[in-house]
Amino acid sequence: MTERFPEHPAGGVPPEYPSAAFYPELGAIVGSSLCMGTSPYERERRPRGRFGENAVAERGTRLAIPPPPPRSRDAMTTFVGKRYDFHDQAGDYAHLADELAGLLGGEQDFVANAANTAALIFDALPDLNWAGFYFLKHGELVVGPFQGKPACVRIALGKGVCGTAAVERRTIIVPDVNAFPGHIACDGASRSEVVVPLIVGQKLLGVLDLDSPRLERFNAGDARGLERLASVFLKSVRPEDIA
Ligand code: SME
Repeated sequence: MTERFPEHPAGGVPPEYPSAAFYPELGAIVGSSLCMGTSPYERERRPRGRFGENAVAERGTRLAIPPPPPRSRDAMTTFVGKRYDFHDQAGDYAHLADELAGLLGGEQDFVANAANTAALIFDALPDLNWAGFYFLKHGELVVGPFQGKPACVRIALGKGVCGTAAVERRTIIVPDVNAFPGHIACDGASRSEVVVPLIVGQKLLGVLDLDSPRLERFNAGDARGLERLASVFLKSVRPEDIA
């Protein structure tokens, strides 16, 4: 049985339900051809306790979210548009990994999953100006789905931070890009960077690259958290996508 709620007066999704607010086309309308309302991610993003954890909307049903409670002054000052503040870095990365698993769950399209992974990371992590993929094609790294300014298309293995992380097959944190010999500046605003290699079995698939306009933005906890997110993405990759 589908529960129905009155439309939010603004006609949209209240910002107090950030996951739905960030993905209104997915969070507010359930049962369209794009979103059947049955994926784990869809269930996860419904405000808990109001609709029942696993309430499933009928096909074509609009999931109307009731008006939010008034915002407290505290909430106004602490909620800055991100769902995670990373004060509990390991915990927030764990939640983000769960969120990513739900987002990618059931979808096998490589580009779609890479695009949503980049978008989720860019949306969730503070102080980023670029987040996305380079994939290994014919012996060089070629830019894949990303968020941020247009980027260098091709990077040779061994060149830049991306090419170095790919060849050395290890996560590289660059606290100051100007101090990294051979750093490739795609966006002049970048001050620090982290690159995680994507490896399936013995095969190098590419790299996940994040840039920040802030010096020393990334630490070892970010590296571990991003490696975890990368492994969630890699679980969605089919063998034929890396052949
Ligand atoms: N800075 C990277 C190039 C990619 S951009 O940052 C998006 C590098 O040195 O490999």
